[in-house]
Amino acid sequence: MHNAIEIRDGQAVIGGVGVRKLASSCGTPLYIYDQNALEERMAEFVSSFKSDTLQTSVLYASKAFSCLAVYKLCQKHGLALDVVSAGELYTAYKAGFDLKNVYFHGNNKSRKELEMALKLKVGTIIVDNLMEAELLAFLVQKPEYQSCRVNTLLRINPGIEAHTHQYIQTAYVDSKFGISILKMDEIAQIVQTLSQAGISFDGFHAHIGSQIFEQEAFLAEITKVCEFAKTFEEQFGFVTRTLDFGGGFGVWYTDADKPVAIEQICKAVISQAEAEKERLNLAFDSICIEPGRSIVAEAGYQLYEIGFLKETQNRKYIFIDGGMTDNIRPALYQADYEFDVATNMDAAKTETVTIAGKCCESGDLLGSEITIQPYQSGDLLLVHSTGAYGYSMASNYNKLPFAGVVFVKDGKIYWAIKPQSLNELIERELLEVEEVQ
Ligand SMILES: Cc1ncc(COP(=O)(O)O)c(C=O)c1O
Repeated sequence: MHNAIEIRDGQAVIGGVGVRKLASSCGTPLYIYDQNALEERMAEFVSSFKSDTLQTSVLYASKAFSCLAVYKLCQKHGLALDVVSAGELYTAYKAGFDLKNVYFHGNNKSRKELEMALKLKVGTIIVDNLMEAELLAFLVQKPEYQSCRVNTLLRINPGIEAHTHQYIQTAYVDSKFGISILKMDEIAQIVQTLSQAGISFDGFHAHIGSQIFEQEAFLAEITKVCEFAKTFEEQFGFVTRTLDFGGGFGVWYTDADKPVAIEQICKAVISQAEAEKERLNLAFDSICIEPGRSIVAEAGYQLYEIGFLKETQNRKYIFIDGGMTDNIRPALYQADYEFDVATNMDAAKTETVTIAGKCCESGDLLGSEITIQPYQSGDLLLVHSTGAYGYSMASNYNKLPFAGVVFVKDGKIYWAIKPQSLNELIERELLEVEEVQ
């Protein structure tokens, strides 16, 4: 559950550092991670996702927040990594991450990306489709990649879709990700293509959605995937060794969200997998999960300075010095957050306001009709639980530079990502256009 924030002298304190100090030392807007909370969450996943009979791996789905410092913490706590692009892979490489423990995802990996993965000896490629399997089979025949011992899994679509508080079991066959379990022959063709090329093929991966609160959705997924593995074994003689059940565990953004405790969900996944293995007499001996949001979201905060104020006929606007460029989630899918006037924490929340960013879009609202403490221009506004899909989805729209990211721990502040300067914002641009040779 979400950690209550510490309050000292009327201001919010994160990781032992007051927000005024954070703003004066690092500027705003600012992404802040409570490093102890982040590390505790990583350790909790690793210690909870353990089985007496199965090998277990927790893969951090790094799309949620990818940077060198967070990859280093993952390595420290024994997490593996899920990457989805050359950029995330390169970041893992530069972080000194053990690339054997990297799982490379993506529905349209380019040839360059696959070659990079082979060159860097990435441990596992999660194949999405037949064309990818064929390309990989072709690439491993090249002399430079013949010594590569890459493992593969295949992403399947088990026909379970979960949306926050509900899940549906349908014959949902049109997802752009993976291959529907209804297409057994195509799956067999992919497995055969990989095996004939001498590529080790271990099993299957599925992911049913994000911000899911219903444990039953994950249990239904595990049953469906195991039953698929059984049918596939019976029809094609393929013995599954590894199953990866994806991520999607829900987190707290507001009090409407009631996430299942990490220990509980991990134990439930393990028992369901063990039970289905026994019931169906399956041989798999290794299982994975891929939490992204649930590792980083609640340890993260965003800090803004309140600028101009405006009242229209029906609304009181607070303008902040960032917006949809540093957190697109409210504009993209009406995501809700909890807000505080971080410099007036002792006051009761009596003011109803709309919080707007500085971008040229009417939809650039971080919160609409939100209740917060009394405020003035110059106060600091804190947004809670912003650690996932904030920085990683940031943009330079309106030429706003990327905000910096700090980790705070035991009263000290550490840069994880420096803020982008105006010079860096234009450093790839040419005043005199250059002819392409
Ligand atoms: C394949 C896969 N695994 C894991 C995740 C992580 O999901 P979450 O951040 O909700 O845990 C995603 C999210 O899109 C995904 O596509």
